[in-house]
Amino acid sequence: MANKADLIVGVQWGDEGKGKIVDLLAQEYDYVARYQGGHNAGHTIVIDGKKYVLHLIPSGVLNPKAVNIIGNGVVICPDEFIKEAAQFGDLRGRLYISKNAHLILDYHIALDQAAEAGLGDKKIGTTGRGIGPAYADKIARVGARLGDLYDQARLVDTILERYDRLGLNAPPKAEVASSVARWADRLLVFAADTTQMLWQALDDGKRTLLEGAQGTLLDIDHGAYPFVTSSNTIAGGACTGAGLAPKEIGKVIGIVKAYCTRVGNGPFATEQTNAIGDRLREKGEEFGASTGRARRCGWFDAPLAKFACRINGADELALMKLDVLDGFEEIKVCVDYDDGKPIYKSFKGWERVSKARSFDDLPKAAQSYAAAIEELTGVKITLISTGADRNDAIYR
Ligand code: GDP
Ligand code: IMO
Ligand code: MG
Repeated sequence: MANKADLIVGVQWGDEGKGKIVDLLAQEYDYVARYQGGHNAGHTIVIDGKKYVLHLIPSGVLNPKAVNIIGNGVVICPDEFIKEAAQFGDLRGRLYISKNAHLILDYHIALDQAAEAGLGDKKIGTTGRGIGPAYADKIARVGARLGDLYDQARLVDTILERYDRLGLNAPPKAEVASSVARWADRLLVFAADTTQMLWQALDDGKRTLLEGAQGTLLDIDHGAYPFVTSSNTIAGGACTGAGLAPKEIGKVIGIVKAYCTRVGNGPFATEQTNAIGDRLREKGEEFGASTGRARRCGWFDAPLAKFACRINGADELALMKLDVLDGFEEIKVCVDYDDGKPIYKSFKGWERVSKARSFDDLPKAAQSYAAAIEELTGVKITLISTGADRNDAIYR
């Protein structure tokens, strides 16, 4: 029987540590595929102290064996891709991009930034990378796709027409033509029918891992609109964003931080705008991997995590950054709401989890904390991460 594709999804507002887990698991997978989002994502991997941040390229790229796929649901900024790919040498044969993936063009970035500026204090706090406008053009059927680079002259005209329609000043035609030529030269070598590739992989019994970007609570449909990103970040997004049938999705692993963070604006009931929040930010180095912005920090929100587990069909959880809670005397978890206000349960802190190499090695208080998260979400924790490095992981 054909294999199913396993899936990694962020349970909170992104930055849970997806990159680390995808890199770790990629050692056992043949294919790693992104299915939504763009270079708004910042997935950090630390191997023997060396740090890599991936925005568009799947986090399987540091495993020489894995084939990486950027699916049709991803939006690609060509020059950002070229820049990011440059650090990995020749990726031909190890990376494929869907011909149907939409391109983020300069005017998308300009529109994103102008929209944010126009919103003033109501702004979403986007990454300013053109994600929303690129997806808007895709849905409005006026977008440009990777495959359009096969007809450069036509794409140049389409881009110039689009500037005109939008009432924006277009760059000189020669400049647009030169960009398009560069993109065609550097990107088309990776162009493929990635849906067919994934079907073939599954039919051949290959192991495939789908790498979600952002997090469940930023989902365009299921997050706190309009404080969301412009794609379906939940597990279901992998079906449309990679071209897989729902029944082809296998194990769903939710990545959950031991506390909560959020970059950008929007509701965050358990946020701690006080010394606790500052301490989480400092210890957890909670500064955006993409934009460098300080992340808002707060306690774990169990009702939201439970919602996320349900909507993604999470089979198991990876509990991340437990070490950041080291040394707290009291750790709080929101277990319910009363009229929108969090009701907290207190947990006893612990000294240090980072030395532990097995679940039983963990301080008893840390074990109880993990057990409480399992109970509150109804999902088993199968991995606990106790540091940024690839090796700082406890399997259960
Ligand atoms: P992603 O977007 O979900 O891939 O997460 P990011 O890479 O944006 O943010 C997670 C940050 O936490 C990165 O800097 C990681 O290197 C780091 N990290 C991951 N797991 C752990 C952990 O268990 N402990 C600590 N202290 N840092 C971690
Ligand atoms: P990873 O994959 C955290 C947030 C932005 C903003 C909102 C909309 O690293 O977890 P956008 O630029 O997407 O239109 O911004 O979504 N956001 C993220 N927050 N992690 C991310 O990705 C994010 N990608 C977008 O901060 O609030
Ligand atoms: Mg990130």
